[in-house]
Amino acid sequence: MCGIIGYVGKKDASSVLLQGLNRMEYRGYDSAGVAVLCRKSSLAGQDENSIFIHKRAGKIEKLENSLPKINNANGIGIGHTRWATHGEPSKINAHPFNGCKNEFAIAHNGIIENYTTIRTNLVEQGHVFESETDSEVIIHLIESYYNTNHDFFNAVRLALKDLWGTYGIVVLSRDHPDTIIAAKNGSPMIVGLGENENFVASDVAAFLKYTRNILPMEDGEIAIVSADEVQVKTLENSVVNRKLEKVGFDLSTIEKGGYPHYMLKEINEQPDTINDTLRGRILLQKGNVKLGGLEQFDKRLKNAKRIILTGCGTSWHAALVGEYLIEEFARIPVEVEYASEFRYRQPILEENDVLIALSQSGETADTVAAIKEAKRQNILVLGICNVVGSSIARATDMGIFIHAGPEIGVASTKSFTSQVAALSLLAVYLGREKNLTQLEGRKILQGLLDLPGKIRSILDESGNVKELAAIYASHQNFLYLGRGYNFPVALEGALKLKEISYIHAEGYPAAEMKHGPIALIDESMPVVFIALKDDPTYPKILSNIEEVKARKGKVIAIATQGDEEISKKADHVIYIPETLKCLSPILSVIPLQLLSYYIAVQRGCDVDQPRNLAKSVTVE
Ligand code: AGP
Repeated sequence: MCGIIGYVGKKDASSVLLQGLNRMEYRGYDSAGVAVLCRKSSLAGQDENSIFIHKRAGKIEKLENSLPKINNANGIGIGHTRWATHGEPSKINAHPFNGCKNEFAIAHNGIIENYTTIRTNLVEQGHVFESETDSEVIIHLIESYYNTNHDFFNAVRLALKDLWGTYGIVVLSRDHPDTIIAAKNGSPMIVGLGENENFVASDVAAFLKYTRNILPMEDGEIAIVSADEVQVKTLENSVVNRKLEKVGFDLSTIEKGGYPHYMLKEINEQPDTINDTLRGRILLQKGNVKLGGLEQFDKRLKNAKRIILTGCGTSWHAALVGEYLIEEFARIPVEVEYASEFRYRQPILEENDVLIALSQSGETADTVAAIKEAKRQNILVLGICNVVGSSIARATDMGIFIHAGPEIGVASTKSFTSQVAALSLLAVYLGREKNLTQLEGRKILQGLLDLPGKIRSILDESGNVKELAAIYASHQNFLYLGRGYNFPVALEGALKLKEISYIHAEGYPAAEMKHGPIALIDESMPVVFIALKDDPTYPKILSNIEEVKARKGKVIAIATQGDEEISKKADHVIYIPETLKCLSPILSVIPLQLLSYYIAVQRGCDVDQPRNLAKSVTVE
């Protein structure tokens, strides 16, 4: 978690850093800070080449409003926006930290697991700490090595070799007014190369306004960055040569584009993002699919004896839909595991197993750890990711990018539907090797191609969902029920509501209601049913609705257009167009995304940056 940035170039560093931090605020927003090197008379009371640090608890806005004007052309500096792990969110625990002599400043993203031991040793050597964070030990260690070798790069390198854990860091040095050093291990770090200026950041969004030329760093690498040169070395001090890459999107895709919130923009983008996931991959006449990213390991994948799908949160929900899809069409046994559990339970993996890791960000630490475990056991790993160049995209043997574009709202929306679309393509791809006929394949693919128009028609009716939200915004509990392909959608609907409106919500398979949750139902309990007409369990779901009504619960049904029967039973019905059962999650989830969005807005919640959360969870 956390977003970090470094800048060196001709511009005023503090404004570049603040812009970058604002772009990365989704990564953490409980405190923020910047450190800049003062040039001649840039700030009253500051000596030339002294490090000026300014930090605040709370959102970046607070930092921005309190930051004094710094005249800093030829700027150099670093910045940080925090999601607290060690130490409460406060000014004292905010980054950057500067060690004992204000010779250096550091911003860190990650967790240093052996910080207690290091801190104790450093305190014995006379170092004085100001915060409760694990991060602060890094700067004292650098300071300590620098005192003996007076070599900026080697001081950083040696300090990093003492650390256990994860880090993305960026370091500023008083004695090296033209250089910043960045390093990466387990947390994202990308170098952005501009003209006579360079950047480092946790996310390209931070510097996309200035350059699309990037150099994503690998674990164990250190970048020495000045305005006109970038050199990358390893922790062992050997030089790394890597090709420049180009970011495939521009600034407009990471702006709100007239919407009040990123989440609403991203919900509304789904007709296009589904198209982007499918583009160039459908061979309609052949009833088959082309997935270029899988070609190298095509045989091994198609011969898989078992597939394990893994991920966290929304990605895990998409994985559950994947289980239904792959088992139904490819007839390969599938298991779905929380990445965090898979990693630690010593899973038994066989030679022909394949792990499929799903992640929007490609940076989720639990999912990265699950991949490492699979690789340790020599298992083929496929990634389904959104962010090109992310840690997971690079750590997997092969992959399918979902191409949903940057997702900034903390609550995942478009990445879920694109993940399910990608899994549908994969199910056809694997299925066609088995018993799925050309005709059946074609039917699913045509169904996928028809989805964008159907999503558009659901979005056109958003007003109905908004009205519903106004009725239910003050409720404290919700139940979400669905079966088969729509059981994961019930989980996802409940997660969306929880995370952005802080309403307690639970998702269950509808049939499980009678085994416990039914005890919760009374007149104050809204129950959201996903009850689609052509689902084989539809009559059973209707009985479940009756059971809720008999106990005075309020029923909101997501139903198939034209289903009049359900409107006689439910209190409210939101209709969605008919589609194939296997593709229905891509449609049924949309009213649930809208419902949680409008309820959160009604309740005055911070939709894009809900409390306690961050977009990518880069700590285990
Ligand atoms: C979704 O709304 C959540 N913010 C969260 O559960 C998320 O899906 C999870 O942290 C996994 O993230 P990833 O897809 O980037 O790996």
